[in-house]
Amino acid sequence: MQKIRWGIIAPGNIAAKFSAALRQVDDAVLYSVASRDVEKAKCFAAQNGFLHTAESYQDLINDDNVDVIYIASPHNCHAEQSLACLRAGKPVLCEKPMTVNSRQATEVIRVADDNNTFYMEAVWSRFLPVYKRIRQWIDNGDIGDIQLIQASFGFNFPFDPKSRLYDPNLAGGALLDVGIYPITFSQWVMQDQYPASISAVGSLGSTGVDERSAVTLQYDEGQIATLTSTVLADTVYDAWIIGSRGKIKVPMFWCAESAELITGSRADMNVVDSAYLPHQPNGYEAEILEVHRCLAQQELQSPELTWGNSLKVMKIMDEVRDQLGLTFPFENQ
Ligand SMILES: NC(=O)c1ccc[n+]([C@@H]2O[C@H](COP(=O)([O-])OP(=O)(O)OC[C@H]3O[C@@H](n4cnc5c(N)ncnc54)[C@H](OP(=O)(O)O)[C@@H]3O)[C@@H](O)[C@H]2O)c1
Repeated sequence: MQKIRWGIIAPGNIAAKFSAALRQVDDAVLYSVASRDVEKAKCFAAQNGFLHTAESYQDLINDDNVDVIYIASPHNCHAEQSLACLRAGKPVLCEKPMTVNSRQATEVIRVADDNNTFYMEAVWSRFLPVYKRIRQWIDNGDIGDIQLIQASFGFNFPFDPKSRLYDPNLAGGALLDVGIYPITFSQWVMQDQYPASISAVGSLGSTGVDERSAVTLQYDEGQIATLTSTVLADTVYDAWIIGSRGKIKVPMFWCAESAELITGSRADMNVVDSAYLPHQPNGYEAEILEVHRCLAQQELQSPELTWGNSLKVMKIMDEVRDQLGLTFPFENQ
């Protein structure tokens, strides 16, 4: 396979973890890094094994030697940076959420399409090998008809009004950062059908961003997903898919390495099958391999996570934010 030369925009916390995965993917070349601060880019490049440093984000976008750009900036930057890459015909893997709202997401998709350029949101969970096993159990009818989905994701992030998680100017709050994972999980289980109804309750904190919320999605045949997220507490991390004849437990569902198929009820519950498919090295390799496959096949979007799939999640989050009364300051300008 042809080598793929990666460039990174905004080298921070997640970019370092992503780079660790890149180093383990055979055909990936850690090519160049761009930061708002060129000295920081040099330091990141040296520490993480990149060959070059760009002078600026635009310098990286203009570099003909870069095959694909990974955008790892705060949420509020995703739309603008994705658009700059796509208008230059540069393929993009952009961190979640793809944008702050569905209006921006629609524009990103339009520009990717107009420029015939690959774009994918970095929702790494969907590419983890254990998800394929879960899909097999569902498709085999091992749990019967899906009735309920439960998932929650939250951490106790110390309050800091200037941090990415609490600053409304950086599109902070639990929903866009961690709440996107339970919603994505439910959408993945339900084959990306748009919910028939969406209801949300939650509370906004002193900086105006959502600090905790519960979202209920109901699908066409009545299936219900109850999904929670917060920045105030460490939640339980097992997701459940509950069917008429059994259930599936997915520990640490957003970065899952394992899952259990369970049948029986109450005292009679049995684990009848299980899967353990460990990360190699940290789980981000799965989405990287999918980007490589798409580029090699000249596919503009991944069938595992289409533009439409990402857009539906953005629309659900728009609706949740509407019900919570959450608007970011830059959305009013
Ligand atoms: N997939 C996952 O598992 C996962 C995990 C964590 C986060 N994420 C996502 O990754 C993205 C970045 O998260 P992170 O935790 O890595 O963030 P971070 O470390 O706080 O920031 C990432 C980079 O963004 C740039 N940046 C920081 N503050 C900025 C500001 N105020 N305006 C413009 N740029 C700024 C900086 O790059 P420069 O060097 O260019 O200044 C910084 O190094 C978020 O969208 C988040 O949702 C994904």
